[in-house]
Amino acid sequence: MPTALVTGVNRGLGLEFIKQYSQAGWDVIGTCRDLGSAVEASGLADVASNIELYPLEVTSAEAIAGLAETLKDRPVDHLVLNAGVMAEQAQVLGELDQEDFVRAMSVNTVSPALLIQAFRPHVAASEKKLIVGMSSILGSIAGNSDGGLYSYRASKAALNAVVKSAASDLAGDGITVIAMHPGWVQTDMGGEAATITTGVSVSGMLKVFDGMTTADGGRFLTYDGSELPW
Ligand SMILES: NC(=O)c1ccc[n+]([C@@H]2O[C@H](COP(=O)([O-])OP(=O)(O)OC[C@H]3O[C@@H](n4cnc5c(N)ncnc54)[C@H](OP(=O)(O)O)[C@@H]3O)[C@@H](O)[C@H]2O)c1
Repeated sequence: MPTALVTGVNRGLGLEFIKQYSQAGWDVIGTCRDLGSAVEASGLADVASNIELYPLEVTSAEAIAGLAETLKDRPVDHLVLNAGVMAEQAQVLGELDQEDFVRAMSVNTVSPALLIQAFRPHVAASEKKLIVGMSSILGSIAGNSDGGLYSYRASKAALNAVVKSAASDLAGDGITVIAMHPGWVQTDMGGEAATITTGVSVSGMLKVFDGMTTADGGRFLTYDGSELPW
């Protein structure tokens, strides 16, 4: 069976990813910042023998390297870089907060880049060889007509640049790297007004992942398969 590694699986889209991958019969490696409080994910892992959970604070380079070493001989077919944050402070001019901005860049941009670097051999050793950067339509520079949301937009636009470079650099290994917008999804981040459920978003994304070939590397796609402008 193929293996998926998904970051940030204690809630939101990550939790739904491990449910759906597990139901599809995949071996699932989920990571959580704090395993002790990951009640729902742990409950799933207790009853589904194909789900394994590992602790991972994605901003720790040492923790990323340690997990890559622990999983050294495990091929990873889908590496889904899902963990992400929206800044806690207001993201409007006049109220930008340096620490908060840097945290968004660290979680949303630097960590996915380090994860791609660390897990390149695991993905290269797999059959499907797909890496997904969980981006956002808010990271589209071409689509930014409203302004605001400085740190979130900047960190996701920078993630898109990471995806583009990795798509070029890893094509020779047969690895496909894409950026994905999951839709506006009902999670803690998306809020109650969001238009789709995690179930709809993740089932759509899994269909998109399934259709990917090496020719798709460097694309920016939504959960329904449509293309977004950079
Ligand atoms: N929901 C939407 O409408 C939407 C739209 C576009 C893009 N996205 C993207 O989709 C991804 C998932 O979003 P979501 O809606 O599921 O968000 P969410 O409900 O807020 O969940 C975020 C996940 O990321 C984890 N995380 C955050 N910082 C972390 C860190 N430093 N180390 C490890 N894990 C960390 C969280 O763990 P903790 O519980 O430990 O904080 C949680 O598991 C994000 O990258 C987000 O930017 C979401």
